Amino acid sequence: MTAHRDFLSILDFSSAELPALFRLAEDIRNKRYVKKPMAGKVLAMIFQKSSTRTRVSFEVGAFDLGGHALFLSQRDIQLGRGEPIKDMARVLSRMTDGIMIRAYEHAHAEELAEYADVPVINGLTDLSHPCQILADLLTVRQFLGTFEGKRIAWIGDGNNMAHSWIEAAQRLKFSLRLACPERYEPDPALIATARAEGADVTLVRDPREAADGAHVINTDVWASMGQEDESNERIQVFNGYMVDDALMARADRDAIFLHCLPAHRGEEVSESVLEGPQSRVWAEAENRLHIQKAIMAVLIGHESLAPYMRGPKRTAPKKKSPARGKRR
Ligand code: CP
Ligand code: NVA
Repeated sequence: MTAHRDFLSILDFSSAELPALFRLAEDIRNKRYVKKPMAGKVLAMIFQKSSTRTRVSFEVGAFDLGGHALFLSQRDIQLGRGEPIKDMARVLSRMTDGIMIRAYEHAHAEELAEYADVPVINGLTDLSHPCQILADLLTVRQFLGTFEGKRIAWIGDGNNMAHSWIEAAQRLKFSLRLACPERYEPDPALIATARAEGADVTLVRDPREAADGAHVINTDVWASMGQEDESNERIQVFNGYMVDDALMARADRDAIFLHCLPAHRGEEVSESVLEGPQSRVWAEAENRLHIQKAIMAVLIGHESLAPYMRGPKRTAPKKKSPARGKRR
């Protein structure tokens, strides 16, 4: 077994590594980083669910880094006919350099990682969506300068996105307030663990309470992939949870609106907010590309995060500068 690391959860990166990963992603976005650490390398992408952004960003990202990506839909590969994940893990490990999986059951992503001999990246499971939340935090840095000390509001379903926000709050210093209806809260164990580690996470019922003074208002569909048959029931339950202009008006004056997309206009978000001046959803989608290139560069391309880590600021000893105009 060769040494490698997986990215199944935000917790797989340390509090020190995450800001370094953001800086690398920012260098990638600003084209200061143009290396090809995936030259000659191949990423296998397994999709058990649909995708637009995840597929395109990983495929384009692998290409930009000099590598190649394979799109493997469950409909076409033997997984769909019952081939065990652990068998696929060992076969793909012998032919590719990394595997991204979008799965229903998180345990399947974990099993893949357990048996694979190459890095495994979580491209969304029913439990979490870590790549998206890193893209969201990158977007917060882009538009608000920092996420440190900011108030982030999650409005709606306590789903995979909410879970990854909670894990992010465990690693990074921001305040997370989630407003979810009864029976649709995030996993209480994740909140308890995050709080035990010092995270500032609050669960409320009223979306207005979460939105009050928030710097970021974030929502997602009410019925996630795999929950389509609950759609009608959920529309009833989530009545009052739409992010609309009235809710945005309660947030900080400079607040931004985020949504991982795809969005259901007129359900979890109004057309006016999604298309409005505070919406940053297109930049957020673009940031999927930049952050995932950073993740692949590190995990598959063995790029070092060390140059992107910042310790305590060291001030160079001041040289005595000659007085202006004075010759040495
Ligand atoms: N946000 C997101 O993961 O989008 P896709 O489902 O299109 O990949
Ligand atoms: N919660 C949504 C996110 C889609 C990107 C889902 O799982 O369908």
